[in-house]
Amino acid sequence: MNIFLVGFMASGKTTLGSQLGTLLGMRYVDMDEYIEQKNGDTIRKIFVTKGEAYFRNLEKIALADLTKEDGVIVATGGGSACFHNNIDEMNEHGLTVYLKVSTEELVKRLEATKIDRPLLWGKSSNELTVYITEMLKIREPFYSKAKVVVPSDNPLAEDIVDAIRHHLK
Ligand code: S3P
Repeated sequence: MNIFLVGFMASGKTTLGSQLGTLLGMRYVDMDEYIEQKNGDTIRKIFVTKGEAYFRNLEKIALADLTKEDGVIVATGGGSACFHNNIDEMNEHGLTVYLKVSTEELVKRLEATKIDRPLLWGKSSNELTVYITEMLKIREPFYSKAKVVVPSDNPLAEDIVDAIRHHLK
Protein backbone atom coordinates (compact mmCIF):
# COMPACT_ATOMS: atom_id res chain seq x y z
CA MET A 1 0.00 0.00 0.00
CA ASN A 2 1.09 3.58 -0.64
CA ILE A 3 0.34 6.65 1.47
CA PHE A 4 -0.24 10.06 -0.12
CA LEU A 5 0.10 13.11 2.11
CA VAL A 6 -1.94 16.00 0.75
CA GLY A 7 -2.46 19.56 1.93
CA PHE A 8 -1.64 23.16 1.25
CA MET A 9 1.87 24.54 0.80
CA ALA A 10 3.68 24.60 4.16
CA SER A 11 1.26 22.18 5.82
CA GLY A 12 4.17 19.96 6.86
CA LYS A 13 3.94 17.24 4.20
CA THR A 14 7.68 17.03 3.63
CA THR A 15 8.78 17.03 7.27
CA LEU A 16 6.05 14.67 8.46
CA GLY A 17 6.35 12.50 5.36
CA SER A 18 9.96 11.70 6.07
CA GLN A 19 9.24 11.08 9.78
CA LEU A 20 6.32 8.80 8.87
CA GLY A 21 8.52 6.93 6.41
CA THR A 22 10.91 6.13 9.24
CA LEU A 23 8.16 5.18 11.71
CA LEU A 24 6.30 2.99 9.23
CA GLY A 25 9.36 1.54 7.50
CA MET A 26 8.21 2.90 4.13
CA ARG A 27 10.24 4.54 1.39
CA TYR A 28 9.67 8.28 1.44
CA VAL A 29 9.33 10.22 -1.81
CA ASP A 30 8.88 13.97 -2.16
CA MET A 31 6.87 14.49 -5.34
CA ASP A 32 8.43 17.87 -6.15
CA GLU A 33 11.93 16.38 -5.81
CA TYR A 34 10.89 13.41 -7.93
CA ILE A 35 9.72 15.80 -10.67
CA GLU A 36 12.92 17.84 -10.43
CA GLN A 37 15.11 14.77 -10.74
CA LYS A 38 13.11 13.24 -13.57
CA ASN A 39 13.04 16.47 -15.58
CA GLY A 40 16.47 17.80 -14.67
CA ASP A 41 15.06 21.18 -13.66
CA THR A 42 13.89 22.93 -10.52
CA ILE A 43 10.17 23.53 -9.93
CA ARG A 44 10.89 27.27 -9.97
CA LYS A 45 12.51 27.05 -13.41
CA ILE A 46 9.74 24.82 -14.79
CA PHE A 47 7.13 27.35 -13.63
CA VAL A 48 9.02 30.26 -15.14
CA THR A 49 9.97 28.71 -18.47
CA LYS A 50 7.07 26.34 -19.17
CA GLY A 51 4.22 27.65 -17.01
CA GLU A 52 1.81 26.16 -14.49
CA ALA A 53 -0.25 24.00 -16.88
CA TYR A 54 2.91 22.24 -18.03
CA PHE A 55 3.91 21.66 -14.39
CA ARG A 56 0.47 20.20 -13.61
CA ASN A 57 1.01 17.67 -16.38
CA LEU A 58 4.36 16.71 -14.90
CA GLU A 59 2.59 16.15 -11.57
CA LYS A 60 0.07 13.90 -13.29
CA ILE A 61 2.86 11.88 -14.87
CA ALA A 62 4.77 11.67 -11.58
CA LEU A 63 1.66 10.39 -9.85
CA ALA A 64 1.18 7.74 -12.54
CA ASP A 65 4.79 6.62 -11.95
CA LEU A 66 4.43 6.53 -8.18
CA THR A 67 1.15 4.64 -8.15
CA LYS A 68 2.97 1.78 -9.87
CA GLU A 69 5.12 1.36 -6.78
CA ASP A 70 4.16 -0.25 -3.52
CA GLY A 71 5.06 0.71 0.03
CA VAL A 72 5.97 4.32 -0.63
CA ILE A 73 4.90 7.36 1.33
CA VAL A 74 4.56 10.38 -0.95
CA ALA A 75 4.62 14.01 0.14
CA THR A 76 2.62 15.45 -2.75
CA GLY A 77 2.95 19.03 -4.01
CA GLY A 78 0.36 21.37 -2.50
CA GLY A 79 -1.65 21.66 -5.71
CA SER A 80 -1.32 18.14 -7.06
CA ALA A 81 -4.43 16.77 -5.32
CA CYS A 82 -6.51 19.53 -6.93
CA PHE A 83 -5.82 18.97 -10.64
CA HIS A 84 -6.55 16.27 -13.22
CA ASN A 85 -8.62 14.11 -10.80
CA ASN A 86 -5.39 13.29 -9.00
CA ILE A 87 -7.04 12.95 -5.59
CA ASP A 88 -9.32 10.22 -6.99
CA GLU A 89 -6.32 8.44 -8.44
CA MET A 90 -4.53 8.67 -5.08
CA ASN A 91 -7.59 7.23 -3.37
CA GLU A 92 -7.66 4.36 -5.84
CA HIS A 93 -4.03 3.49 -5.31
CA GLY A 94 -3.43 4.09 -1.65
CA LEU A 95 -4.36 5.83 1.53
CA THR A 96 -4.67 9.60 1.42
CA VAL A 97 -3.93 11.72 4.48
CA TYR A 98 -4.84 15.42 4.58
CA LEU A 99 -2.78 17.68 6.82
CA LYS A 100 -5.38 20.32 7.61
CA VAL A 101 -3.54 23.33 8.99
CA SER A 102 -5.36 26.56 9.92
CA THR A 103 -5.27 29.47 7.47
CA GLU A 104 -3.63 31.72 10.10
CA GLU A 105 -0.78 29.28 10.61
CA LEU A 106 -0.32 28.75 6.86
CA VAL A 107 -0.11 32.50 6.27
CA LYS A 108 2.52 32.79 9.01
CA ARG A 109 4.63 29.98 7.59
CA LEU A 110 4.27 31.10 3.98
CA GLU A 111 5.14 34.68 4.80
CA ALA A 112 8.54 33.33 5.81
CA THR A 113 9.01 30.92 2.90
CA LYS A 114 7.16 32.46 -0.07
CA ILE A 115 10.43 33.02 -1.92
CA ASP A 116 10.58 29.25 -2.56
CA ARG A 117 7.07 29.11 -4.02
CA PRO A 118 6.39 30.49 -7.52
CA LEU A 119 2.65 30.89 -6.93
CA LEU A 120 3.34 33.33 -4.09
CA TRP A 121 6.03 35.44 -5.65
CA GLY A 122 5.55 39.20 -5.45
CA LYS A 123 2.60 39.10 -3.02
CA SER A 124 2.51 41.56 -0.12
CA SER A 125 1.40 40.37 3.33
CA ASN A 126 -2.19 41.49 2.74
CA GLU A 127 -2.33 39.99 -0.71
CA LEU A 128 -0.89 36.76 0.63
CA THR A 129 -3.64 36.40 3.23
CA VAL A 130 -6.38 37.03 0.66
CA TYR A 131 -4.77 34.74 -1.90
CA ILE A 132 -4.31 31.85 0.54
CA THR A 133 -7.86 32.20 1.84
CA GLU A 134 -9.26 32.16 -1.71
CA MET A 135 -7.04 29.27 -2.79
CA LEU A 136 -8.05 27.21 0.20
CA LYS A 137 -11.72 27.68 -0.68
CA ILE A 138 -11.01 26.22 -4.09
CA ARG A 139 -8.72 23.46 -2.89
CA GLU A 140 -10.45 22.32 0.29
CA PRO A 141 -13.09 20.21 -1.56
CA PHE A 142 -10.26 18.21 -3.15
CA TYR A 143 -8.19 17.82 0.02
CA SER A 144 -11.32 16.80 1.91
CA LYS A 145 -11.68 13.74 -0.26
CA ALA A 146 -8.73 12.27 1.66
CA LYS A 147 -9.56 9.21 3.76
CA VAL A 148 -7.76 10.44 6.86
CA VAL A 149 -7.93 14.09 7.93
CA VAL A 150 -5.46 15.42 10.50
CA PRO A 151 -6.91 18.69 11.81
CA SER A 152 -3.92 20.09 13.64
CA ASP A 153 -1.32 22.83 13.12
CA ASN A 154 1.49 20.77 14.64
CA PRO A 155 0.60 17.09 14.68
CA LEU A 156 3.13 14.53 15.87
CA ALA A 157 4.08 11.87 13.35
CA GLU A 158 3.13 9.28 16.00
CA ASP A 159 -0.40 10.68 16.18
CA ILE A 160 -0.74 10.43 12.42
CA VAL A 161 0.39 6.80 12.58
CA ASP A 162 -2.36 6.18 15.16
CA ALA A 163 -4.95 7.89 12.93
CA ILE A 164 -3.84 5.76 9.96
CA ARG A 165 -3.97 2.53 12.02
CA HIS A 166 -7.40 3.49 13.34
CA HIS A 167 -8.63 4.07 9.80
CA LEU A 168 -7.26 0.73 8.59
CA LYS A 169 -8.84 -1.31 11.42
C1 S3P B 1 2.38 24.16 -5.27
C2 S3P B 1 3.02 23.66 -4.18
C3 S3P B 1 4.46 23.36 -4.16
C4 S3P B 1 4.97 23.03 -5.56
C5 S3P B 1 4.59 24.12 -6.51
C6 S3P B 1 3.08 24.36 -6.57
C7 S3P B 1 0.93 24.46 -5.20
O1 S3P B 1 4.71 22.27 -3.28
O2 S3P B 1 4.47 21.80 -5.99
O3 S3P B 1 5.25 25.29 -6.12
O4 S3P B 1 0.28 24.59 -6.25
O5 S3P B 1 0.39 24.53 -4.07
P1 S3P B 1 4.68 22.39 -1.66
O6 S3P B 1 3.28 22.11 -1.22
O7 S3P B 1 5.64 21.33 -1.23
O8 S3P B 1 5.13 23.77 -1.33
